[in-house]
This record gives sequence, structure tokens and C-alpha cells, in this order.
Amino acid sequence: MYYPDDVVERVRMENDIVSLIGEYVSLSPKGGSMFGLCPFHSENTPSFSVSSLKQLYYCFGCGASGNVISFVMQKENYDFPTAIKALAERARIELPEERYTEAAKKDAKTKKTLIEIHKLSARYYYDKLNSDEGERARKYLDARDIHPKVRVKFGLGYAPGGWDGLCKFLDEQGYKEPILLKTGLIGKNNAGKLYDRFRNRLMFPILDIMGNVIGFGGRIIGEGEPKYLNSPETMIFEKNRNLYSLNFARTLSPKELILVEGYMDVIGLYQAGFKNAVASLGTAFGQNHAKLMKKYAGVAVLAFDGDDAGKRAALRAIPILVENGLRVRVLDLDSTKAKDPDEYITKFGKDKFLQELSNAMSHVAFNIKQMEKEYDIQTDTGKIDFTEAAAKLLSKLPGEIEKDVYISETSKITGISDKAIRAEILKQSRNLVGGTPKLRRNFELSAVDKRRQKGLIEAKKGIILYAAEDKKIALAIREVLNPKELKDYVFVKLLEIIFNTYDEGGNIYPAELVSRFESHEEQREASDIFINTITPEDEKSKFKALSDHVRAVKKAYIEEQLFQIEDDNEALKLIEAKNNLEKLYISL
Ligand code: CTP
Ligand code: MN
Repeated sequence: MYYPDDVVERVRMENDIVSLIGEYVSLSPKGGSMFGLCPFHSENTPSFSVSSLKQLYYCFGCGASGNVISFVMQKENYDFPTAIKALAERARIELPEERYTEAAKKDAKTKKTLIEIHKLSARYYYDKLNSDEGERARKYLDARDIHPKVRVKFGLGYAPGGWDGLCKFLDEQGYKEPILLKTGLIGKNNAGKLYDRFRNRLMFPILDIMGNVIGFGGRIIGEGEPKYLNSPETMIFEKNRNLYSLNFARTLSPKELILVEGYMDVIGLYQAGFKNAVASLGTAFGQNHAKLMKKYAGVAVLAFDGDDAGKRAALRAIPILVENGLRVRVLDLDSTKAKDPDEYITKFGKDKFLQELSNAMSHVAFNIKQMEKEYDIQTDTGKIDFTEAAAKLLSKLPGEIEKDVYISETSKITGISDKAIRAEILKQSRNLVGGTPKLRRNFELSAVDKRRQKGLIEAKKGIILYAAEDKKIALAIREVLNPKELKDYVFVKLLEIIFNTYDEGGNIYPAELVSRFESHEEQREASDIFINTITPEDEKSKFKALSDHVRAVKKAYIEEQLFQIEDDNEALKLIEAKNNLEKLYISL
């Protein structure tokens, strides 16, 4: 996180939530809270409540909730540090100067100059595109039907064919060789002469999240190799920490981001009205990209090229996105129809693409579809092998509801009945939990499972509420429960923070806990827990409720471990672990 926790907390406390939200929404008192029309969905009767006591807001209509920081993030679409800056300004709090070393100070100055140079260079390329020299590039854009407005929006430009146009231009602006060589835009030959890296190319400026130009992609005009040339990594250009067009996509507060492979895909989609598309920068998709996406949206829709390379890239990106908490859907372009999303739109139009988007399949279904190609489903053995492999994939899914959905998707893809797939999954899980009939029944009964799943969430919420309310209880919980057993990221982190806070002799303020999370979605989840308050109870029923909660959580945790023990070569080694878990399970 950008600012220390105590600074964040001071900023939060000095911005009273009722007064801040009052600047956006007209609020009136009702039953201990303030109510108004929800700013996050349209409604005629107020269902948006703000609690001065808890310093949290909650909408009974759309479920929006959070603290004062979440509100500003959501309303202004700021990221976390920007929201802190804005709120600090509002409360006239001076944020701590980042303590720079001398070297870091110099770096910061160099970076600033590099950004300046990139801005000027983008302007230079843009002007060239619109000069006589740019005619061929303009014709190319015309041929690809890129509208003038979109050219301006993306700042497209043209790097002319000479060897030193940009060099000369930047020299005239007073920039000297050492800094020019740091831009990645200028090279130096053996004779010591400076030259332009990009020549006779269509230029795509790459912007960071704040809108600074930090690098360029340059496309050859027409056919030729290499098709794209990109800026190298520089002090300001980190390819694995930026995504093309994210600075535009983020301002829409999109529910989902469309992830494509190419710059031209992003632009083609943008022009067709899909302004939430982003692409990586000529590098493989990685962890930092996923983290960045997660800051701005909860869902990623992959729309990669239809060829084998595109499919492989999708299979690589999926686990990275899932690991980082994004829900993932895949738009599987049939390569016979169009090679990439851009071509698809040109050929079939935006309405068809919208249809494809809404039909995008879950990542599990996509995985299964790819698997399908490995087996010859026409033969009986192929079909059996395939179903087994698919069942294995499905049996690993943690949630029963999720599993249900994917079973029917798999059934749709393969034509194999729900029942047969379910039987196969059961066979796989029977191998796992053969000795525990009670467990097996749980895997079979999905309606019961669904209710349990919901009960489990309530149990986790309950544990956190109790722990936040009373230090004694929190310490008692810690005796028997490891925060990790709560499984879900937000719950685990909350319980850890609560324990740590008590250790340090602090008190728990729900609104403070909320700002320990950086993404708006996580803040909403956290604050959602504290909207509930525990109804006052006597000690005995409190203890009963709490131990029920803890038991439910521990059972689920163990079940999952049992479930994950696969029936393979590792099994023997794991049998002992399994027996121990089973003993523990039964004792619970
Ligand atoms: N790329 C690259 N270097 C190359 C080829 C591709 O860096 N030699 C990167 C670029 O970021 C490019 C992306 O990979 O945008 C996808 O490549 P491709 O599908 O070939 O490009 P498109 O953006 O679809 O461009 P076009 O439609 O003009 O072919
Ligand atoms: Mn393309």
C-alpha cells in the first residue's frame, strides 16, 4: 500500500462520512441512520443509508457499501492512493513527504524529464501523421477504417522514414544525448551517431494509468517484418505493469474488462463502442497485469486470437487471472470466421460481437473444450477418457454451485448427460473420501450443499463480527482457529488484522478495517460484514453460536483438503495425512 496505515486512518477519521456523502446526496435522518437516493443506481425511493456511528454506507437496493474512502473511490473512480490524496486535501491534512534518498530524488527528476520527452515525441509523431509525409500512413488507417476521432483519442502518429527526424526535433528542444539515450526512442550507432529507433511506422503511444505517454508501439505500414517494434523497457516503461488503454477503460468503472492480444484489437473494439478492452504490451500476460486488472474490475473476458497461439495464450492467462481473484470468461473466436476481435467486428459488426460477448463461456468450459480436442470423442474409449479428464477438472472446483453450473456447461459442449458426468465426478470423489460416507453424501446433494455454502459464509461473517466486537472472544477464537481456515481472502485478512490489532493493544473500528483493502470490490465485501450487527445475547447463546460457526468453518476446511487429495501416485504418501484429517473431522 502507498501510505502507512496510520496516515490512511487519520485521513478517514477526519472526513466524516455523513458530511462528505452529504456533498453528493441529499440525506435525511430515519431510524438512527441517514437516508437518501442511492448515487450508484437509479431509484425513486431512498434506500441508501449512511451510518454516522459506524462511518459506513450501505444501499439496500444495489448492495453498494463501504467507508468514506470507498465512497470517493466509487463515486470519482479513483484508485486507492488518489482517493487518499483527495480526502487529505479536503480535510487539509498534509500527507507525509515521501522520504527520498538523493539517488531516488535524481531518479524522480529523470523520470519526469523522460515523460516530458515522450509527450513531445507523441506530439511530433502525431503532427507527422497529419502532414504531407504521413499520407501513406493515413491511407493505411483509412483502409482499416479507423475513424479520425479514434485516431485522436489514441494519439496515433507516424514516424517518418528518415534516420534522425526525432533526434533533430528533440535536440532543438534542448535535450542532450545522455537523456535521449534513456528514452528508448533514440539509438546510437558504432560511429557514435544518434538515430531514430522508429522509422516509417505507424505509432501507437502507450499511456500509463495517469495518462502519461511512457512508450510506443510502432507498426509497419502494410506487410513486412517485424510487424511491430516496441519501446524497450526504460525507467518509465515497465511492460508488465501497464496495459494498453487501461487509462481509458478504467474511467468507465467497468464490471468487466475485455482482454485482447493486440493494439489494433483494442482500437477496433473501442471504435465499435467496447471501450473496456485492454491489451498487454507485446509481452506475455503476467501476475502484475492481473493485479492491475483486479483493481478496476471483477471480471475478465478473454478475447484472444482464434489461432492455436491465441488459445495457448488464453490457457496460460486463465490461471493467473483466477489466482488474482478475477472471474474469467472466454470468448472463443472460431478461427475460421475471423483471426482476431478486430477482424471479427470489421466482418460481422458490433451487434454480433456483443452477442459473442454475452455468450462467452466460463474459463472452465473453455478448458474443457480445449481438452476435448485432445481426445477422439468419436470413439468410445476417447469419450470415456475425455469424460474422466473433465470430471477430474470439475472435481477440483471448490464450490458446489460453481460445479453445478459447469457440469451442465460440460454436458452442453459434449452431449454427455449431466447425470453421467456427475456419476464420474462422484466416482472420482469416492476414491477420495471412500471411508467417509457422510462426506460423500454431501458431495451428492447439491441443494443441501448450496444451503451449506450460504451457511458457511454466514458463519465466517459471524466469527469476524464476534472477534471485532470483543477482544476476549477474539483471543478465544485464535486458540482454535487459524485465519487461513476462513479461506476467502477478505475474511482471512480481516481476522488477521483483528488479531494483530488486539496484539498491539489497539481497538477495532469497522470503518478502519474496510480501508485496509485496496480494491473497491474487497472494500464492499468487508464493509458488508459490519453492516450486520449482532443482536444482543446472553453469554451462553453467544458461546453456542460462535462454536457452531467455528465448527462449520473447520469442517468445511477439512472437507476441502480431503477433497483435494487426489487418487494418484501421491496417494500413499497422503493416506496418513488423510487418516489424521478424518479423525479430526469425526471428532468435530
Ligand atoms: N506484437 C509485438 N511484436 C510483433 C508482433 C506483435 O510486440 N512482432 C504485439 C503487439 O502488441 C501486437 C500484439 O502483439 O499488438 C498482437 O499481435 P498481432 O495480432 O499480430 O497484431 P494486431 O494488434 O492484431 O495488429 P494488426 O491487426 O495490424 O495485425
Ligand atoms: Mn489484428
